Amino acid sequence: KEIFLKDYKKPDYLFDTVDLEFQLGDEKTMVTSKIAVSPGNEAGTSSPLALHGCDLKLLSIKINGTELKSDKYTVDPRHLTILTPPAGVFNMEIVTEIYPQLNTSLEGLYRSTGNFCTQCEAEGFRKITYFQDRPDVMAKYTCRIEGDKTLYPVLLSNGNLIEQGDLEGGKHYALWEDPFKKPCYLFALVAGQLECREDSFVTCSGRKVTLRIWTPAQDLPKTSHAMYSLKEAMKWDEEVFGLEYDLDLFNIVVVPDFNMGAMENKSLNVFQSRLVLASPEAATDGDYAAILGVIGHEYFHNWTGNRVTCRDWFQLTLKEGLTVFRDQEFSSDLGCRTVKRIADVSKLRSYQFPQDAGPMAHPIRPLSYIKMDNFYTGQLLFLGAEVVRMYKTMFGASGFRKGMDLYFQRHDGQAVTCEDFYAAMCDANNAHLPNFLQWYSQAGTPTVKVTSSYDEGSQAFSLKLSQEVPPTPGQPMKEPMFIPVAVGLVDSTGKDMPLTSIYSDGRVQTLSNDGHPIFTTVLQFKKNEEEFIFNNVPERPVPSLLRGYSAPIRLDSDLTESDLYFLLANDSDEFNRWEAGQILARKLMFSLVADFQQQKTLALNTKFVDGLRAILRSTSLDKEFIAKAITLPGQGEIMDMMSIADPDAVHAVRTFIKKELAFQLKDDLLAAVTSNRSSEAYAFNHDSVARRALKNTCLAYLASLNEPDVTELALNEYKCATNMTEQFAALAALSQNPGQVREDALLDFYNKWQQDYLVVSKWFALQATSDIPGNVANVQKLLAHPAFDMRNPNKVYSLIGGFCGSPVSFHAKDGSGYKFLGEVVLQLDKINPQVASRMVSAFSRWRRYDETRQALAKAQLEMIISANGLSENVYEIALKSLAA
Ligand code: ARG
Ligand code: ZN
Repeated sequence: KEIFLKDYKKPDYLFDTVDLEFQLGDEKTMVTSKIAVSPGNEAGTSSPLALHGCDLKLLSIKINGTELKSDKYTVDPRHLTILTPPAGVFNMEIVTEIYPQLNTSLEGLYRSTGNFCTQCEAEGFRKITYFQDRPDVMAKYTCRIEGDKTLYPVLLSNGNLIEQGDLEGGKHYALWEDPFKKPCYLFALVAGQLECREDSFVTCSGRKVTLRIWTPAQDLPKTSHAMYSLKEAMKWDEEVFGLEYDLDLFNIVVVPDFNMGAMENKSLNVFQSRLVLASPEAATDGDYAAILGVIGHEYFHNWTGNRVTCRDWFQLTLKEGLTVFRDQEFSSDLGCRTVKRIADVSKLRSYQFPQDAGPMAHPIRPLSYIKMDNFYTGQLLFLGAEVVRMYKTMFGASGFRKGMDLYFQRHDGQAVTCEDFYAAMCDANNAHLPNFLQWYSQAGTPTVKVTSSYDEGSQAFSLKLSQEVPPTPGQPMKEPMFIPVAVGLVDSTGKDMPLTSIYSDGRVQTLSNDGHPIFTTVLQFKKNEEEFIFNNVPERPVPSLLRGYSAPIRLDSDLTESDLYFLLANDSDEFNRWEAGQILARKLMFSLVADFQQQKTLALNTKFVDGLRAILRSTSLDKEFIAKAITLPGQGEIMDMMSIADPDAVHAVRTFIKKELAFQLKDDLLAAVTSNRSSEAYAFNHDSVARRALKNTCLAYLASLNEPDVTELALNEYKCATNMTEQFAALAALSQNPGQVREDALLDFYNKWQQDYLVVSKWFALQATSDIPGNVANVQKLLAHPAFDMRNPNKVYSLIGGFCGSPVSFHAKDGSGYKFLGEVVLQLDKINPQVASRMVSAFSRWRRYDETRQALAKAQLEMIISANGLSENVYEIALKSLAA
């Protein structure tokens, strides 16, 4: 059933308190829910009270203490409806039975390696008990958990532990109380054999908070980085946003089986193992960075999500976009801002832009959904974060903070909308941002065209901007958007010109910051076309446009190649230096793709090689920046620019350029590898991370040559590595080329690490994403590997998701990749619809390919959609993919 934003209605009934009781058992779990209900509107109500419920066995229902007769309610597979509830306030008690041990969907209450745990967002609470499962129903909860003391020594829920004790028959119980009102999606329960690392944090107002990270005993040593990350996050939120933790206890629990990354349940965050557990030997710099970011993310939700939550699920970006933005800022402040920005923008280009140009395009506030879980997309999260970032770009750090303060002042304890956030931001800054709200309602990536001209006589430099938002499913016509374009003008010596005044909208605006010259200004571009004229510009400048990537758009400027090389070498905005290199690389790849398709010989232009050589040789640039700057745009990014995506051509061209660069820059690359070795103990700090990033990037280039000396070098790096970052990078470098060396290295690595399932997942992913010919067969074989398990999402994402991430393999012209995925999706759907639906999304852009591929992919989608007993999750994605 499709649900629409426009149909939103306030709830007729409110729940004030919810007292839950769980009797955990191996065969069945009994859930008793006592709810204090009150009318949702002043007039009172006599309408039926409809409760959501799914896979529940109803044992009894009482209203004000009396059992409800069966003619007073109806039950269907999705609801329990009380036909004529009493007027005014009343109590309701519902007892249900559930079977967590059979729950492989990993939503609601389920078991993971013997322990009980929950995942309620978005709509999983209805798998625990009958409830108004919607975020605008906020209540105070208590939770009493009862279970076997030996099997489940640890019993956790939200809030404070207020009572615990032993019971007859080897059982015990714990009673938790959460003093804050919350929607049911933030409810959590964990029970099992866990141990904790304990630490504490004293907040700015002097509250001592106990911090506990719970894992199986053997993993405890791997939780120190997560604990460090948590304390840094708590400190950062106080310093940057004045936001303090509000309880005396904060728990994090690690579970191996989890659909998403993690979950921000009030004071009881649940994480999949990969995002908590780390040791230098077994986790990479990338893992360490992901842990820092996600621990921060879930912690930051305590204010942006929990204290202020969403009115309905259409507003999801209100909490996710904002919280992703906050975690991005946190990681930037603790690491390197430019490098973090580059990584985030690359992700946006590789995943969100393509999706927004396909049948699953949707605005960050979707208009309808069948399964909300399908809308935890990059659009809502990462594009949402870009939208939040634009407020900061417009209002500055202090204006943004004012907006946040007002938002909490107005809405603490409420379930609100994206307009409420917009209003707080604008009101706090006495501003109005025309057309800005379009970012919430229009799908599709705007393209901004820029043409520049310089008039020597009047010393005026003009930028003419035009914008176009492409049509997307259901939205043929678009309104112009508010686009902040950060601009600097670079003079012929490579320095930023001071900007004095600008003319637009018939008005002249003086640019200065209390008498200090300014070098970057933000143009407020909000119409289809607009001209901005800079005055007092003494020579023709090279404009540095969209500095720091100030808006999530495609920029199409009239900068020439030599302008771009100039910016690559000189721009004071490091992001735009990288960007100039990327634009050059995209142009190059694009033209080589055309050559390849016309069967011309490929040749690399020497200016490009020289540009990269200069970057590689720089001693002043940050090493991680260099690593990013010499990395070519991904295959997805290039295919996204083609009218008919050609994975073979793009792959051939990218491989060609890589090898050619490795060949021509071999000495510099070798020098970078050698000079960036270190015998110091592993540390996760920017300098060490940057050094390893540069070394590993160079090693990958070199190994692509597949020559004996570089193979020897990579083998040596592999053997001598003392941390996973370098070991895995060397393994990846070696496994680029098919052959015995590859096979031996992969086997050796598996033998070393087979006891560590997180490392084994990496090993699956490495092979799955490989571009070597005929990889479908390898992946098929790995499906049957004893270490693979279809029920563990992390392994599925590594192996199946990884495979779909290699365009040449997944889009193999014979359709073998499609056929493989089609079969796997149907298998997966029976186990875990959320995971299956994430996998089926790989098909969604099938129309972007040639006719042969289209027919093959379409056949798989049709096969899937006609399967019996298909989940709504997979159905929605398949349906939308076929429709557009
Ligand atoms: N709110 C979670 C986070 O920020 C996302 C998890 C939602 N889970 C789901 N199955 N839809 O990390
Ligand atoms: Zn989140």
